Amino acid sequence: MTYALVTGASKGIGKAIAIELAKRNINVLLVARSYTELQQTAEEIRNTYNVSADFLASDLSLSNAAATVYNWTKEKQYTVSILVNNAGYGLSGPFDHYSVEEHTNMMQVNMLTIVQLSRIFLPELKQQPQSYILNIASSAAYQAVPLLSVYAASKAFVLNFSRGIANELKDSSVSVTCVCPGPTDTGFNQRAQVGKKALNAAEKLNAQPQSVAATAVNAMFHKKRELITGFVNKLGAFFAWLLPKGFIETTSASLYK
Ligand SMILES: NC(=O)c1ccc[n+]([C@@H]2O[C@H](COP(=O)([O-])OP(=O)(O)OC[C@H]3O[C@@H](n4cnc5c(N)ncnc54)[C@H](OP(=O)(O)O)[C@@H]3O)[C@@H](O)[C@H]2O)c1
Repeated sequence: MTYALVTGASKGIGKAIAIELAKRNINVLLVARSYTELQQTAEEIRNTYNVSADFLASDLSLSNAAATVYNWTKEKQYTVSILVNNAGYGLSGPFDHYSVEEHTNMMQVNMLTIVQLSRIFLPELKQQPQSYILNIASSAAYQAVPLLSVYAASKAFVLNFSRGIANELKDSSVSVTCVCPGPTDTGFNQRAQVGKKALNAAEKLNAQPQSVAATAVNAMFHKKRELITGFVNKLGAFFAWLLPKGFIETTSASLYK
């Protein structure tokens, strides 16, 4: 029996992706820190969709997190055929408002754990006749975002890492997709401590996590390498490419002040 392993599946986009996969009759493994939310989601999925669902409460900011997750799947004899690297968060405000440790923890979750999980599960994914890696980056991956600098840079890393390995694996059974959502109605802004101005702007553009999840899962099964969700977000990425970088960065900075 094969499974989709979804990180950050306790809430928001990750939970919606796990439900979207279960709807398509795919067994799911849920990973995040919040034990109770994971337990409830796994139970809801088992009861509603008649698929197998298990969970692991684990902190993905720990440097050995990927090995912990992998070892758990081996102990339970779960075979992973879909790896969804969704867990992530932002820290908004001046760069020096946060300690080295706070930035390092975020970079571990947003970047290193993704690389480590992809590397550690790759031999198993290659053994499947068809398997998938779905990485969740952000529309922030297409530009520098002052006052959200490390987060935006971490998402640019996810996007370029995904593009790179998608090309490397093009003749294998492993398809790699990177989905870049724009503002989505989840707990993201609260955890990132985003100020009122950016919150108001996000609320006007907010997509629902269920629609982002459906778009992401479709893109993954259609083997798309890269997808920005929503027309306005696509337009934003185009203008970030077209217009002078200084202008784009000053405009973003004014939003997060
Ligand atoms: N919402 C947006 O506007 C937006 C836009 C673009 C991209 N994204 C990206 O979408 C992804 C999902 O975010 P979301 O919007 O759904 O936010 P969310 O509602 O805050 O969910 C974040 C998920 O990541 C998990 N997570 C965070 N830190 C973790 C850690 N140290 N260890 C394990 N799991 C951890 C959280 O679980 P626990 O708290 O239980 O650990 C939760 O399940 C992120 O990569 C985010 O960067 C979001």
